[in-house]
Amino acid sequence: MKANESMTLVVTGYRAEALDVASFELRDPSGKPLPEFAPGAHLEITLPEYDSAPSSLIRHYSLCNDSAETNRYVIAVGRASNSRGGSLAMHEHVRVGSTLRVRSPRNNFPLVGDAGHYRFIAGGIGITPILSMIRWCQSHEKSWSLLYCTRSRTRTAFYETLAGFGAAVRFHFDDESGSLLPDLARELADGVASEHVYCCGPGGLMHAVEEVWTGRSPESVHFEWFSTKGLSNVQPASHEVAFDIVLRSTGERLRVEPGTSILETLEQRDISVPFACREGLCRTCETPLFGGEADHRDYVLSEVERRAQSSVMICVSRARSDTLILGV
Ligand code: FES
Repeated sequence: MKANESMTLVVTGYRAEALDVASFELRDPSGKPLPEFAPGAHLEITLPEYDSAPSSLIRHYSLCNDSAETNRYVIAVGRASNSRGGSLAMHEHVRVGSTLRVRSPRNNFPLVGDAGHYRFIAGGIGITPILSMIRWCQSHEKSWSLLYCTRSRTRTAFYETLAGFGAAVRFHFDDESGSLLPDLARELADGVASEHVYCCGPGGLMHAVEEVWTGRSPESVHFEWFSTKGLSNVQPASHEVAFDIVLRSTGERLRVEPGTSILETLEQRDISVPFACREGLCRTCETPLFGGEADHRDYVLSEVERRAQSSVMICVSRARSDTLILGV
């Protein structure tokens, strides 16, 4: 199986992990080993079509099992109250025996291998990539700690597993503590220079961690965003200007108007390109950039990748130059 290749997997396990959170175990139908993954990786899943859902919904779910396992993938899905069909489809239409189209794992949230200490901060369903990271730390005898924030004990996925790690895990339940966020300044005050922070959860928690972390090395704090809500990259269309794209395969030149993305411009010409989140979060629409300077507005490229100007997320990013030459 090559990287990013698509496969059909069968659901071999289903488990309620907390109120409105279920985990799904996926295996190859013939028992073949699966492509390897590293902690922090996610799967891109094409969800089953059903009566009230639009066809071909694609969603990304972090892997939460041990990355040393090659015979199965485990994901956990929270049922979102504002679901656009993704979490609803998984919760109501996917059960043991269902088959799903899955792309081999990708990792936008990789774990560095040599931190002196790994400090994990998770909120809600953001525990999923962190759980895989914790399993890696355990098997590699790394020092780690977790602060896990949820609305209540009943909504705390993997509670028994995590509680079993003892003092390394601290829970913060909104309803028991009377506050939405723990005292992060206090939580992070004892940080050591060689530690790395990994944070995944709702925007409010991530912003709070960013604020408290100000002044420390930006390379030592890592975020995985699930949604663009509340993020400052989102620009009003009134601030946008038109630019051209040139398609390297045909030489065709197209105008990208303000308020229209590169992806939408291509779709208007019936040029099909892969996409999923349309929010700059998943990397599915990453397109090679052969000329021009992109105005990167995604949440997945690193600083080094942004400066390299060798690819662009065409669902959200725009241009600083008059023209971008794209590998389309
Ligand atoms: S479609 Fe997800 S980053 Fe563009």
